[in-house]
Parts: sequence; C-alpha cells; structure tokens
Amino acid sequence: MNLDQLTPSSLGYFVFKSDKLAEWNTFLKDLVGLQLSDKSSDDQLAFRMDKQEQRIIIEKGSANDLSAVGWEYDNDQSLNEVVLHIKGKGVEIVKADQKFCESRGIRKAYICTDPDGVDHELYYGASIIPMNDSFKSDVLVGQFLADRFGAGHYVANAENVEMSLNFYRNVLCIRLSDYITGEVFPGGPVLEATFLHTKTGRHHSVACASIPIPKKLHHFMIEYENMNDVGLAFDRFKKADTPFFMELGHHPNDQMFSFYVQTPDGFGLEIGWGGIIIEEDNWEVKTYSQLSDWGHVEPRSNDN
Ligand SMILES: [Fe+2]
Repeated sequence: MNLDQLTPSSLGYFVFKSDKLAEWNTFLKDLVGLQLSDKSSDDQLAFRMDKQEQRIIIEKGSANDLSAVGWEYDNDQSLNEVVLHIKGKGVEIVKADQKFCESRGIRKAYICTDPDGVDHELYYGASIIPMNDSFKSDVLVGQFLADRFGAGHYVANAENVEMSLNFYRNVLCIRLSDYITGEVFPGGPVLEATFLHTKTGRHHSVACASIPIPKKLHHFMIEYENMNDVGLAFDRFKKADTPFFMELGHHPNDQMFSFYVQTPDGFGLEIGWGGIIIEEDNWEVKTYSQLSDWGHVEPRSNDN
C-alpha cells in the first residue's frame, strides 16, 4: 500500500506532563486565549480551542515536557489499516482501554512510542461539544485555526534525527513538506530541520531537528485566524513579563507570521497567523537556507 494512504488526517491534540498546573492555566487561558474544558480535574488541565472537547492537556507530573501527541484518523477503517502497517514494521503498538479513551474524549485509540520516548496516540472519533456551548475565549477577537487543520504543530528535539524521521515518515506515514538548513540567529548555530504534514495540509504538523536543549520539545505552535490576535497576544505577554524566545518574524517555508515565548515548563510556544496549506498535487519539496525571512530575533535584555 502507498504510505500516503496511511497518513493521519491531522494532529488532534497535545499532552504535556507538568508540575506547574496553576502557571499553565494562567498562560493558556489568560494569555493565549484557550478555554478551560470540562475535562479538567485535580490531576489535569484540559483546554479547548474549537468545538473539540480538548486540544491541549496538561497532566500532573514531573517531566515538564511533551508527553504524547494525538493523531486523528477519519474512521475506524483508516485507523485499523495504519495499526496493521505499524505492526508490520515491527513497532509495538497497543490498544488503549475504554477508560483511557473516555479521558481523552475519543472513540478508539492505539498507542506507540517514538525513539525519544514520546507516546503517539492514534485515534478516531473525537468528542465534539454541542453548538449551544461553542468555543469562547476570554481574550481573543477571533478564533483558533484548529477545526479543519488540527491543534497546531511542534518541533521535536530528536536524539537521533535519522531514527526519528524514519519513525515519523515510514511508521506514522506523515508526509514530507520541506527542509530548512540555516542559522538559528545571525552568526548562531546551524539548525537542520525537516518539516512533515498530514492529510489536512497544514504546512507541517511536526518538524524534526537535533537541538542542544534538555527537552524532547523545542516548541509547539498554535495559530489564530485573525492577525490582530497575534499582536494582541504579543502585548499581553509583554505586559505579563513572560520571557520571549523570539520577537515577531516570518518563516520562509510555512509563511507563518509569529513570535515565540517561553512556556511555564521552559520549552517554547510559537503563536502564529497566516501559515500556508499544502495542495498535495502541486507540492514541490524545497530546501530553505534560513529559518526566517525577517525578524524572529532574540529579544534584547531589558537591562541594556
Ligand atoms: Fe514552529
């Protein structure tokens, strides 16, 4: 079978493990603009960004890192086909029990683990909130770009990039978008990143690179539908004195207009607008020589 037929439809949700639940609540609800979900409890925070019951889950734990990623499939048949494919590759994959699926708000799931120890929860049948309880943010003027394109993207920090790319491309069957080989900032270290996309065509749902940081995750990204929300969020984070990784800028491959802040667990969050959607039939894989067309500079210290 062509691997492209086994590609997940979208990245459905992120799961982080953290001992900083109160900080995450303020960060995601008051600054990013997510809505706390009824799925939240003493042991986890769950957040909505659209009609799906949860898109970002923060489980109580000490890892302070990415724990799992949910990959959505269209239906039971698509899920079963990819599970057969993964077993055929010799990768261990186990069926999740009903209690787990209920807690995640999904109908059926299988879980496998990547070479860096992040769980991948392959599922279909996400739980949808009725329209009389539509998504509401305390701070956004628009909506998140999530409904048709998934929760966002992330950049995995791979111990062994070749092994991780083999996992993403040949086991999970996520499709190649393009490459960037460029300095992280002018005169800074050179980063080689490979970008991969799912069926819904968001330019990338995951990128893979080897980065000298003590985390499995460099950053994850959420996208707004309204450019003004990026600027308004920028102002909120400045006012809250949140440390910035990179100021406003524009990426050459996904065309994302964005900035990066530090999350309560130390890895980054990219807040973006305007990312391109891949049309599969006309897509050419390219290699870009810089990470940003303009901007994305490290902020100057307030002391200077
Ligand atoms: Fe990004």
